[in-house]
Amino acid sequence: MEAREGMDTGQNPNQKLADPTLVARVQQLREAVRYHQYRYYLLDDPKLSDQEFDALFRELQQMEAEHPELRSDDSPTVRVGGVVSDRFAKTRHPMPMLSLANAFGPADLGAWRERVKRLLPGDDLARLAYVVEPKFDGLTVVLHYEQGRFVLGATRGDGEVGETITPNLRTVRLLPLRLHANAGADGSAAEIEVPSRLVVRGEAYVDKADFEAFNLRQSEQESRTFANPRNFAAGSLRQLDSSITATRPVKLWVYQALILEGAPMPPTHSGTLAYLQQLGLPICPDIRLFSDAEFDDLVAYVTEFGERRHELPYEVDGLVIKVDSLEAQARLGYTGKDPRWAIAYKYAGQEAVTKLLDIVVAVGRTGVITPNAVLEPVQIGGVTVSKATLHNEDYVRDLDFRVGDQVLVKRAGEVIPKVLRPLVELRDGHEEVWQMPQVCPVCGQPLVRPEGEAATYCVNNACPAQLVRSVEHFVGRAAMDIEGFGIKQAELFVSEGYIRDLADIYHLPWETIRTLEGYGDKRVENLQAGVEESKTRPVACLLTGLGIRFVGEVVAEMLVARYHSLDLLMQASAEELGEIPGIGSRIADSVADYFALEPNRALIQKFAAAGVRVADEVVEESHEPGARPWEGQVFVVTGTLPSMTRDEAKEYIEARGGKVTGSVSSKTDYVVVGENAGSKLDKARQLGVRTLEEAELRALAEQS
Ligand code: IVH
Repeated sequence: MEAREGMDTGQNPNQKLADPTLVARVQQLREAVRYHQYRYYLLDDPKLSDQEFDALFRELQQMEAEHPELRSDDSPTVRVGGVVSDRFAKTRHPMPMLSLANAFGPADLGAWRERVKRLLPGDDLARLAYVVEPKFDGLTVVLHYEQGRFVLGATRGDGEVGETITPNLRTVRLLPLRLHANAGADGSAAEIEVPSRLVVRGEAYVDKADFEAFNLRQSEQESRTFANPRNFAAGSLRQLDSSITATRPVKLWVYQALILEGAPMPPTHSGTLAYLQQLGLPICPDIRLFSDAEFDDLVAYVTEFGERRHELPYEVDGLVIKVDSLEAQARLGYTGKDPRWAIAYKYAGQEAVTKLLDIVVAVGRTGVITPNAVLEPVQIGGVTVSKATLHNEDYVRDLDFRVGDQVLVKRAGEVIPKVLRPLVELRDGHEEVWQMPQVCPVCGQPLVRPEGEAATYCVNNACPAQLVRSVEHFVGRAAMDIEGFGIKQAELFVSEGYIRDLADIYHLPWETIRTLEGYGDKRVENLQAGVEESKTRPVACLLTGLGIRFVGEVVAEMLVARYHSLDLLMQASAEELGEIPGIGSRIADSVADYFALEPNRALIQKFAAAGVRVADEVVEESHEPGARPWEGQVFVVTGTLPSMTRDEAKEYIEARGGKVTGSVSSKTDYVVVGENAGSKLDKARQLGVRTLEEAELRALAEQS
């Protein structure tokens, strides 16, 4: 752990002797900052939230500012930040990759504007304008192009030297391997020149939805998950094997030209972005230009953007405001490690402190008992939070949560808020230690905590709470998606005795329900229509709805893609299931165990009898056996196709006379690409081989 070694004394012999307690604190802070930078940058596995890290860093900065005798050249505050590992070759950047100063509110922004104006002469002031861009929260990358070809890519590293990750970056589909003289964005065929040399800076990132889907799949398979999209992007690009990177949904935005040779540099930043876009580099569309006279609009935009930033598909940790004129930028220059011509606008943290009013337990659909925090309502990032999970008995005990504590709550993106820890130093002695209840709060039966497990269960199969949760899951978005049907209806219909198993949802006594309070004709009609409509959902929805352990949406899709019907799936042995790529033995066992139970098999029959779809139609092809329209054509299949396995695609092509090979060459006629297609797709692009998505392949079959 290089970053933790080399303790400095923090003393400077030329100045007055420092106070030993301050020296000790500064050393402690420096060591902590280095360690957490190491976890963040090198392991992509932070232990602190950004806010907690910033607090440490700021305290260190402040101590050094107030006590010059404590300053030291190797303090993490005087370095740009970031660390370089020795796992990768190194690239020295053509110029230091500096960082940005922060503004935390409109007042800071106004002060920055005043300084800019003070430092610029009158003729520049007349044309003063600002570009506002998202501050992308990913991994900074530096990309080198020579004669229009992508030749080298590196991480930011410590700002001077980065890690060379060229092969990994080549797998990023948005990164052009060749630059093109494309027409202007307005469609004008304006001639532009491809530079002989171009070095750009950008941010590699992963969309929030792709990050969540990946983590969901990983957790279903009990594999490693990532803390946030930023770490996922960094972890994906810092792989020694680029075929792993190729399977990851990494994207890219470019936002700065560092070096441009062999073509004229546009006079403004906005012009540069437009030019880079014409060359084929990905430029974020969420970028605005404001004149100095429109500064009030700029401030309003910044505030409004903060409110809707969670709706963007990618994560941002603020906005960057830049002086548009490159000449003015050059004149403004830098202070230390920050440019004067740009500033980062940061939004208030996603964490808040509030009071833990109570801890209540909920019964899940598997009978698992979860302690939930009842919180004094608090605003976090524009949303009121009053409830959060405390996971299990050990979480409450290990972190020592007590009823009445002030607690740190975090909201990250769309996910459920987390209670991070109690603020022990704020206790006044009135806090109460919490105990897991002995009996189920719903059915009153004793609770059980199996040895070696963190979870506590209500093991009463007849506990109505479990059935309610199962119904809630079944009718939910990820499964049968029945509109107007939620936890309230599940509770009511279970307590009235209308639902005793999941298939009873299709035998509800609608006439009786019409007599219940709050269930008018219109409401019942809609609910009934929703239930009816759900019968035709794809089988994967029904399979997800059953709530088999480890079988979420993704796994259900994989199983249905292989078997097409629950009848066939029920007959599969654990061994056979385990052979499906992506299905591990835990999932295979869980599925086989579920269908080994007679009541579960009977439940499927009951669904089928009620008219619920239990088999997907295998699409009948309009292909006459024997016809070989693709005779002599060579295909390569890569990535995951939406509805065929790799073998099925091969069969499909061969049935039409085509040949399927494993690698792309100049002899290849078509590359069939699915999701997460990697190097084969790059190769196809390099060689100009035609690519087809599955739908296009089917269309081609229909035409021929
Ligand atoms: S401009 C001289 N623009 O944020 C600095 N940086 O705290 C020029 N970042 O690691 C940087 N989005 O790489 C700029 N639209 C954007 C950005 C951006 C993200 C990163 C940057 C750096 C950090 C600075």
